[in-house]
Amino acid sequence: MEIKNVLFSEQELNQIVVRTAADIDSVLKRDKVNSLTVICVLRGAFVFTADLVRNIDLNDIRIEFVSASSYGGGTVSSGEVHMDFLNDIEIKGKNILVVEDIADTGRTLKKLTEAIKAKEPDNVWVAAMFDKPERRTVEFEPDFIGAKIPDEFIVGYGLDFDGRYRNLPYVAVLGFE
Ligand code: IMP
Ligand code: MG
Repeated sequence: MEIKNVLFSEQELNQIVVRTAADIDSVLKRDKVNSLTVICVLRGAFVFTADLVRNIDLNDIRIEFVSASSYGGGTVSSGEVHMDFLNDIEIKGKNILVVEDIADTGRTLKKLTEAIKAKEPDNVWVAAMFDKPERRTVEFEPDFIGAKIPDEFIVGYGLDFDGRYRNLPYVAVLGFE
């Protein structure tokens, strides 16, 4: 197993962040939203969230974290979604932006947004850094997408394989050989 080709360089990732933040800004302005609670889905979204919140044109942002995972140690979704820390977050009457690393089968985001909606927020949007639309097994569409990618396993910029490579400043395809 090794790091193969770089899919997004640092500079390309920055462009994705800036573009996604601009998309979010225009919806927030349109809907006259002036305070936001960002929920970062640990652990893969931590780098994207850190960059994204510094590019959203709003001062009044709270940042919260949930832990959600549907992968064990491998590269194939286990189908079960584990969630943690959601009960610690004030959601009722708030404007919520969930930030996730990848929309893959869609199970994690579907389950998470359903759980959030049950707590009666004013609004809930989902921003996914990457989308693998071919992999979807449940009906779910993020409101904001950084980039669509083919069905390949990627690491870096927060994304891991078995806990490793989250530190890479670029996104690369992981090869198995
Ligand atoms: P879903 O519930 O199948 O949509 O799972 C999405 C989660 O799987 C993401 O939040 C990632 O943590 C993980 N994931 C999916 N594809 C990749 C990948 O290419 N690299 C690293 N993690 C991935
Ligand atoms: Mg994840």
